[in-house]
Amino acid sequence: MAELKNDRFLRALMREPVDVTPVWMMRQAGRYLPEYRASRAHAGDFMSLCKNRELACEVTLQPLERFDLDAAILFSDILTIPDAMGLGLYFEAGEGPRFRKVIRSEADVAALPVPDAASDLDYVMAAVREIRGALGGRVPLIGFSGSPWTLATYMVEGGSSKDFRHIKQMMYSTPEVLHALLDKLAQSVINYLNEQILAGAQAVQIFDTWGGVLSGPMYREFSLNYMQKICAGLLREHEGRRVPVILFTKNGGQWLESIADAGADALGLDWTCDIQDARRRVGDRVALQGNMDPSVLYAPAARIRAEVETILSGFGQGNGHVFNLGHGIHQFADPEKARVFVDAVHELSGRFHA
Ligand code: CP3
Repeated sequence: MAELKNDRFLRALMREPVDVTPVWMMRQAGRYLPEYRASRAHAGDFMSLCKNRELACEVTLQPLERFDLDAAILFSDILTIPDAMGLGLYFEAGEGPRFRKVIRSEADVAALPVPDAASDLDYVMAAVREIRGALGGRVPLIGFSGSPWTLATYMVEGGSSKDFRHIKQMMYSTPEVLHALLDKLAQSVINYLNEQILAGAQAVQIFDTWGGVLSGPMYREFSLNYMQKICAGLLREHEGRRVPVILFTKNGGQWLESIADAGADALGLDWTCDIQDARRRVGDRVALQGNMDPSVLYAPAARIRAEVETILSGFGQGNGHVFNLGHGIHQFADPEKARVFVDAVHELSGRFHA
C-alpha cells in the first residue's frame, strides 16, 4: 500500500501534534455536488451507485478533487446491513429509505441472520479496496456503520420516523426482544467494520443518528451499551497503525462523559453543544470532531469564516480536534461555500498548533 502523505486526520484523532486542524464533512459526497448528481443519474438508483465499485470510488473522490479535505469517506450507506439481513432496502423519491420487510416480533428477530460481511457485503469491501487504490496514500479513508440502535429504528419502523412509535413500544413493552435485535446488530457491525478495516479503512465512524431521541437511562441501555461492545470487538491496529474509532451520537451532547468512556478514540459533536464546554468535560480522554452547524454554509463567506474561528478558539490550543460539520452537509448547500469552510479551517487554525 502507498505511504500516507497526509496523516493529519489520523494524528488528530490520536491527539498527536499537527500543523493545522484537519477537516472533512459528513456526507461530503452527495447531492449538493452537480458531478454527484451526474454519476447518480448514470447509475440509475442510489443502491446501484453503492454496489458498483468504480462508481462508488468515483463519487468518493469527487469532493477531494474540489476541496482540500484531509480524509475521504467510503461512499455507501448505513442501511447496507439490514439490506444484507434480507429486509429489502429501497428508496422512494422524496421519502427516504424504506424496507419491504419490517421487524416487529420475537419471531422476526429470531429469523434474522447475522450477515457474513466478507461475502454478503462484498460490494462494500470491493469499493473500499478500489478507493484505497485510487487514493494512492493522498489522505486516509474512513469506513463507517450505523449504530445498532439507529439501524434498529429503520428496521422496526420500516423507514425514517418522526415519533419512533413502534421501536419505543418494543423498548418499553418487550425490551428482551429489542435486546436480541440489538445483539445481532452489534455482532453484524463488528464483523462489517472489521472487514472494512481489513479491506483498507484507516479509521471508522459509528453514526448514532437517533440515539438522541432516548432518555438518559434508555440511551445507556439501548444505544451506548452496544456501541461499547462494538468498540471492544474492533481491530484497533492494521497496516502497522492504530485504527481510530469515532462515535457520533446526534443530540448526545448531554451524555458526553459517558460516551467518552465507551472505548472510542474520538467523539463526534453536533452543533448544539459548545465545543469548549465539551473539551472541558471529556478532558484528554478522547479527541473531538465537529461541530459547525451545516446551515452556516447558507451565510456569506465572512460569516462562515467567523464561525470557523469561533469553533477553533472554543476548542483552543493543542491537540485532538478534527473539524467537521455538526451533521451532514445539506443538499442545497453551495459547493463554493463548502470551499470557503474547508479553506478557512486550514488558514485560521495554524496559530492553535504553534
Ligand atoms: O458521508 C459521506 O459522504 C458518505 C456517504 C453516506 C451516505 N449515507 C450516502 C447517502 C453516509 C456516511 C451515510 C450515512 C447514513 N445514511 C446515515 C447516518 C448519517 C446521518 O446523516 O445521520 C443515515 C441515517 C442514513 C440513511 C439514509 N440514507 C437517509 C436518511 C438517506 C436520505 C434519503 C433522502 O432521500 O433524503 C439516505 C440516502 C443517501 N445516503 C444519500 C446519500 C448521498 C442520498 C441518496 C441520493 O442520491 O438520492
